[in-house]
Amino acid sequence: MAMTRKRAIIVGIGIAIFAVFLGWRLVRPMNIFVVTENFERPMDTSKSSMSTDALRASTCGACHREIYAEWKTSIHSQAWTDPYFQVDWKFDELQQICKNCHIPLDRQQEYKVLGFSDAEKLKPILADNPDFDAKLQHEGVTCAACHYKDGKMLGPIGDVDASHPVEKLADANEICLRCHVVQGERWDTFFRYPPCGTAAEIAAGGGQWKGRSGELAVGDASELGCVQCHMPAVERALVDGGPVRKARRHLWRGGHDPATVKQALDIRFAEIGADRRAYALSLTNVGAAHFLPTGTPDRHLTVHLRVLDRNGQTLAEENHSLKRTTMWRPFIIDLWDTRLPRNQPRSYRIDVPAAGKPAAVEAVVRYHLLDEARRARIGYENTEPIAYEVFRSRIVLQQGQ
Ligand code: HEC
Ligand code: HEC
Ligand code: HEC
Ligand code: HEC
Ligand code: HEC
Repeated sequence: MAMTRKRAIIVGIGIAIFAVFLGWRLVRPMNIFVVTENFERPMDTSKSSMSTDALRASTCGACHREIYAEWKTSIHSQAWTDPYFQVDWKFDELQQICKNCHIPLDRQQEYKVLGFSDAEKLKPILADNPDFDAKLQHEGVTCAACHYKDGKMLGPIGDVDASHPVEKLADANEICLRCHVVQGERWDTFFRYPPCGTAAEIAAGGGQWKGRSGELAVGDASELGCVQCHMPAVERALVDGGPVRKARRHLWRGGHDPATVKQALDIRFAEIGADRRAYALSLTNVGAAHFLPTGTPDRHLTVHLRVLDRNGQTLAEENHSLKRTTMWRPFIIDLWDTRLPRNQPRSYRIDVPAAGKPAAVEAVVRYHLLDEARRARIGYENTEPIAYEVFRSRIVLQQGQ
């Protein structure tokens, strides 16, 4: 009798500890990524003889005029001022770590990072930064964020007659990896792809990606092709009166640009079988080496299929969401992922009901930068739309007319 009571008490205590542990996992502050060396600190320009004025995009732009004009239209130039970022950053308690990618230069940040008070490097020890420049901060991912290295400008050519020292880039794609790769592997995370999985998604397509939740084994950064797709090739002079060179446009179009998303998708809506009983929408990612959509898990596509009667009333409908779904608490687990890997067609079917005099079938595909629930939760009062249509088709059915 005594033994079983003792055992019951031990089991009871075990359950209680586990319940407390789970409870803590449900409320504890959570970070979804691992802070790695590539972005743990702001970029150090303190040893440079370049003045803050010389580092400004507008200064580079006085000589590199076309590149400056392109960069101005890109999301990189808005990485700090972007209203969605600003609201999300405040919602995430103004963490310093966000700045190391959205405003990566030390002179763009109010505080210096002296060290860390935790092993995860999420709690930096900060000190006032006398070199802070608010105007430079507003440039977000500015020219120097990608080009500056030890007082020199990294570039693809290496030996040019410039007013500033230059150094040849080993591979242009390496520049992207500083901010577009974030690992997520910890004992308590079970990601299929890292939190920002773009590079891993490409490597997986080429069979190069292995690992539980974040190991990216990309042998050769050049195989990722980021620059080849996101910075279209152009032949032009880099400065007024300079030689015409093989160069690249500084555009970086992605989810914010409907034309880029549309041209990456092959979408068809057609009858399957016979007698106008069933239709299918098929989608293929033909333009992006990574998944479509990629990047932040906010991004998703929705598919709406409907059968309508003569008055436009819905007789049947099918709704699908193409997105990465992750459970965040108590553990981070990738549940399912319905986004489109490259060149793998996906189709969705709708059946036409016999009753109700069907008159048309309709398909609509929309791209969402984020969903309405998240917009409301963080209190983002958008002035730009958070979703847009990438495809719409209506097929008139003969019967019922
Ligand atoms: C997000 C990173 C990034 C930013 C921001 C950026 N560049 Fe570049 N830039 C690159 C990469 C990558 C290349 C190399 C492209 C290639 O392989 O030819 C490049 C190339 C260049 C070149 C060489 C010519 C060419 O097109 O290849 C010049 C000049 C240049 N950039 C100037 C600028 C200026 C000026 C700004 C700011 C107005 C700027 N860059 C902003 C990444 C960036
Ligand atoms: C006073 C004019 C001037 C300013 C200001 C200037 N550059 Fe240049 N830059 C040049 C010239 C000239 C070249 C060489 C062009 C050529 O030979 O085609 C050059 C070349 C480059 C290259 C190519 C290097 C290579 O070897 O591939 C990069 C990258 C670059 N500049 C980035 C910048 C950035 C970033 C800034 C601002 C921080 C900047 N430049 C400011 C004049 C300038
Ligand atoms: C210093 C960090 C940094 C580097 C380096 C960098 N990016 Fe980015 N990139 C960002 C940030 C931050 C955003 C998101 C900005 C926002 O929306 O607020 C972004 C956004 C983008 C987007 C999304 C555009 C859209 O419409 O949403 C593309 C595409 C992109 N980057 C491509 C590249 C490529 C290609 C390279 C390499 C040449 C590169 N980036 C290098 C930080 C960086
Ligand atoms: C074969 C062309 C191709 C290659 C290679 C490619 N991309 Fe893209 N990328 C696209 C297209 C097309 C889109 C727009 C559709 C989409 O969002 O997937 C896009 C979208 C993006 C976005 C936008 C996501 C958002 O949040 O709006 C980012 C970020 C991005 N790419 C980064 C990269 C990086 C980093 C690499 C290299 C590791 C890369 N891309 C390689 C074609 C490419
Ligand atoms: C390792 C670099 C890095 C860090 C750290 C980082 N970001 Fe970003 N962020 C990016 C890149 C790259 C993109 C664009 C590509 C994508 O969609 O993933 C982006 C996109 C975003 C977007 C979408 C913007 C838009 O216009 O749709 C928001 C919001 C955002 N980040 C907020 C944050 C917040 C808040 C933090 C800190 C908790 C943070 N980021 C930390 C690199 C980073």
